[in-house]
Amino acid sequence: MLELRNITKTFGNVTANNDVSLTVHKGTIHAIVGENGAGKSTIMRIAYGFYKADSGEILIDGETVSIKNPHDAIALGIGMVHQHFMLVDTMTAAENIVLGAETGSAANLDLDKANRDILALSNELRLGVKPDEYIENMSVGQQQRVELLKALYRDAKLLILDEPTAVLSPQEVVEFFSILRRMKEQGKTIIIITHKLDEVLAISDEVTVMRDGKAVGNVKTSETSAKDLARMIVGRDVLLRVEKTDAVPKSTVLEVKDLKVTGNHGSTVNGVSFVVRAGEIVGIAGIEGNGQTELIEALAGLTKATAGTVEFDGKNITNQSARQLKELGIAHIPEDRHKRGLLLDSDLAENSILGVHYRPPVAAATGLMNSAVIDKRVAEIIENFDVRPPNPELSAKSLSGGNQQKLIIGREFDLDPKLLLVSQPTRGVDIGAIEFIHRKLIGLRDAGSAVLLVSAELEEVTALADRLLVIREGKIVGEVDPKTTSTEDIGLMMTGG
Ligand SMILES: Nc1ncnc2c1ncn2[C@@H]1O[C@H](COP(=O)(O)OP(=O)(O)OP(=O)(O)O)[C@@H](O)[C@H]1O
Ligand SMILES: [Mg+2]
Repeated sequence: MLELRNITKTFGNVTANNDVSLTVHKGTIHAIVGENGAGKSTIMRIAYGFYKADSGEILIDGETVSIKNPHDAIALGIGMVHQHFMLVDTMTAAENIVLGAETGSAANLDLDKANRDILALSNELRLGVKPDEYIENMSVGQQQRVELLKALYRDAKLLILDEPTAVLSPQEVVEFFSILRRMKEQGKTIIIITHKLDEVLAISDEVTVMRDGKAVGNVKTSETSAKDLARMIVGRDVLLRVEKTDAVPKSTVLEVKDLKVTGNHGSTVNGVSFVVRAGEIVGIAGIEGNGQTELIEALAGLTKATAGTVEFDGKNITNQSARQLKELGIAHIPEDRHKRGLLLDSDLAENSILGVHYRPPVAAATGLMNSAVIDKRVAEIIENFDVRPPNPELSAKSLSGGNQQKLIIGREFDLDPKLLLVSQPTRGVDIGAIEFIHRKLIGLRDAGSAVLLVSAELEEVTALADRLLVIREGKIVGEVDPKTTSTEDIGLMMTGG
């Protein structure tokens, strides 16, 4: 179906793709795996006409084609769903799907017909998309299905999905995979980029491994294992589980009493109480949208609580600003790294001092920035957190997704926090870096910090947390010992089953 031959693509002095050749067979699901920055998104963006290769060839059905822009790709039957969705919130599903697909002018646009066609397409694959529903009222999973429909409506025969499951809850992943299987039965060809090896094994027929811009391996899924894939990806054996000793908790650092927060998207925190002590990791498990985002944002000073109190080291800190909280020693690794974590157009050096830029030692007494301090700080973060490429002058947006995450984590760890609030620490991060981030979190705990962790990955919270709180509909519905409670039981508490 698709053949990429000897593709090379450079950005400045970074070689994102180095003589990559890749064959994707018709009617198969082909997984692309590899470390952050290995060149996965770049090679697929070349196939979709988003970037132009410096050299190399693209063949569809054995014929050389010229793909200069996404328009050419769409005409050739290629569709792509990007990791960050490109939907207009204030428009309906149908309007988003038709937008740009119509060749006639807006006046000729037959929205009724579009609605009918989209509904038929949605029903055929059991996607459950309502064409007249507004994007802003949809869950992330529903939005993703709109993106799929957008590609299918344009008659895509080859679908490229860049980390489609990174934003989905485990339940949504199961549904999503059955949709992919139905599409495959209809004869579609699918390329999926993911960091999750269990997903690769569950859904794909073939796997291509990329490392340092090269395609370093290609195997049939039935002939490989998570361990083998991990070794091919990282080039060494990777610990696929978390190793830690029992926590030795000390005094209470954070005490939350009957906290209530009203969220933007209907989910709220309905009176939660708990403590986090120095030297322990408290995990919060729950299906996304049950108040965990609002809880962390209120604790980090990004939204206001409407009732209840928060105490830090015995002092009332309820509704203090993010800056005040940071000065007290509370660090925050947010779930949405683009919206909350980075200035995408600024360089790594500037991003490394966000939150501390206004005070010594970064700001000198003269009011000027202390560039020696900044240089040292960014160099340390790059070194300790393996941010690649290691160039402080690059803009944050030119880093691959996983490297952006490592930069944020490094910056927050550099504050040497007494309390770390962390959401989805390994979302979009490669397996080697997951192992690394997990070790860092446990190291921070062992050094005596208190850690409050939210993750949609049940496996991750149960592996890292010393105590696990289960949240449902804005309330803590139970506390369990993750060592002795099965994920099934935790799952039941999460769903109220
Ligand atoms: N627009 C760009 N400008 C400059 N450099 C870029 C650009 N896009 C990608 N790069 C660089 O090219 C390399 C490959 O990036 P790419 O996004 O393809 O990686 P990836 O394998 O998709 O990683 P991840 O798993 O983190 O998403 C990286 O070093 C990245 O920093
Ligand atoms: Mg990528």
